[in-house]
Amino acid sequence: MLRERIRHRPLLDRVVTADEAAALIKDGMTVGMSGFTRAGEAKAVPLALAERARRDPLKITLMTGASLGNDLDKTLAEAHVLARRIPFQSDPGLRKAINAGEVMFIDQHLSETVEQLRTNQIPPVDIAVVEAVAITEQGGIVPTTSVGNSASFAILADKVIVEINLSQPATLEGLHDIYIPTRRPARMPIPVVTPESRVGLPFIPVPPEKIVAIVVSEKHDSSATILPPDDDTRAIAGNLTDFLLNEVKQGRMGYELQPLQAGIGTIANAVLHGFIDSPFHDLKMYSEVLQDSTFELFDAGKLGFASGSSITLSAEMYRKVLPRLVEYKHHLILRPQEISNHPEVIRRLGLICINTALEFDIYGNVNSTHVGGTHMMNGIGGSGDFARNGYMSIFVTKSIAKSGAISSVVPMVSHVDHTEHDVDILVTEVGLADLRGLAPRERAQVIIANCVHPDYRDALRDYYVRASRRGGHTPHILEEAFSWHVALRERGTMRPA
Ligand code: COA
Repeated sequence: MLRERIRHRPLLDRVVTADEAAALIKDGMTVGMSGFTRAGEAKAVPLALAERARRDPLKITLMTGASLGNDLDKTLAEAHVLARRIPFQSDPGLRKAINAGEVMFIDQHLSETVEQLRTNQIPPVDIAVVEAVAITEQGGIVPTTSVGNSASFAILADKVIVEINLSQPATLEGLHDIYIPTRRPARMPIPVVTPESRVGLPFIPVPPEKIVAIVVSEKHDSSATILPPDDDTRAIAGNLTDFLLNEVKQGRMGYELQPLQAGIGTIANAVLHGFIDSPFHDLKMYSEVLQDSTFELFDAGKLGFASGSSITLSAEMYRKVLPRLVEYKHHLILRPQEISNHPEVIRRLGLICINTALEFDIYGNVNSTHVGGTHMMNGIGGSGDFARNGYMSIFVTKSIAKSGAISSVVPMVSHVDHTEHDVDILVTEVGLADLRGLAPRERAQVIIANCVHPDYRDALRDYYVRASRRGGHTPHILEEAFSWHVALRERGTMRPA
């Protein structure tokens, strides 16, 4: 079995234990690990590293594609291994350490990390740790369920540790398309012209002598904890479907729509799930994470092709999809996140981008990351890459959170991830605001009328009317703009006293 997975024979001699491989990671190093939204992360070496750090403390800068599975971010945070973490996470334990100021978290657009590495704008990766399904005859590394930043980490690092995961199906080979942009300033256009475009190699090309250690693991990816659609997410999906149907009626697109991008989380997944019962057909995805809904749409005959950077599924969906990977494979590509999220490609393909907001304000600014303006949730992820460059930038959220104590529509967002300039459509279960072509004063009226929960609508309208009397292009009462967040902090609810 191992000989089929490590096909460059001289590398068979480099198989070591996870402890031996982890010993190559020294205090103060920058480590680039595979892993993107809990898929395809190196699993054995980080655990061994955390174990070692408990006996012999050390600190590293950890870069990944995005979040890690198998509680690795939590384990590394608890072992105090992480000095700095780049560019995304979604773990409650690490979140706690970040919000306590113990871990310096650099919350970055997911397309940008390797561009900055390549141009030495941030400290270089000393060592890469990459999960693979196989090493080819030439020494090429075949990733598993995600590509993320693994290719550039392996290419740019001095040394590479490969984790061959025997539990990942060998049929993953052939799924990946590794294309690395040429150096600037004379960069050639990225030749992705449709979601199906294959423009690179099915493996990460590295000189085999750079592979200093190989660890064999058998741990599975963590499954996604996606909640099933509920009445509110079904209503959000319904509102969005009606809107897109009208776009078709207006002749702006056909029933195949434009290629779709959908963000992480329960709500975006439920929205895509809602397309199963829509009249749309021959859909395509050019996204970042392929969640359960991607495969549900395949099975419903609605989706023709999906390009992403990772496959992250619920336990039930893993059981269904992995044994049938060969059937899906002709309709799938996994790319480096720099390509799945590249502004040039997103703009060229004209994506409909659906991402989730924690809160948005009456003018359409969106906060996707900071609870109460201060406390990190997960990070901006790829939402900024897509929102700024898409054909249409849509943000969805439930109109209230925490049993109604929080209104997701507020006078002024407490942190801005997506400015009003990057936001076209806002959708809650209450309704949809089409902001295209509207000035701030018009936007406010449409948002308040269409998206706000009835419990908060009058208060928000009252704020806007009083603000308007003060004048301005984007009227506000600055001393009151955050009063809803202050009330939440002081009284536990944004509801008017
Ligand atoms: N203030 C405080 N908390 C809020 C809130 C608000 N305005 N709105 C929602 N929440 C809470 C929810 O109550 C829930 O809390 P819980 O985990 O304690 O139950 C949590 O935030 C998640 O909300 P949920 O409604 O379950 O949405 P989700 O699973 O779809 O996640 C985001 C929403 C915004 C956290 C998530 O989509 C995200 O991290 N986005 C940023 C990254 C991104 O968009 N990437 C896209 C490219 S992949």
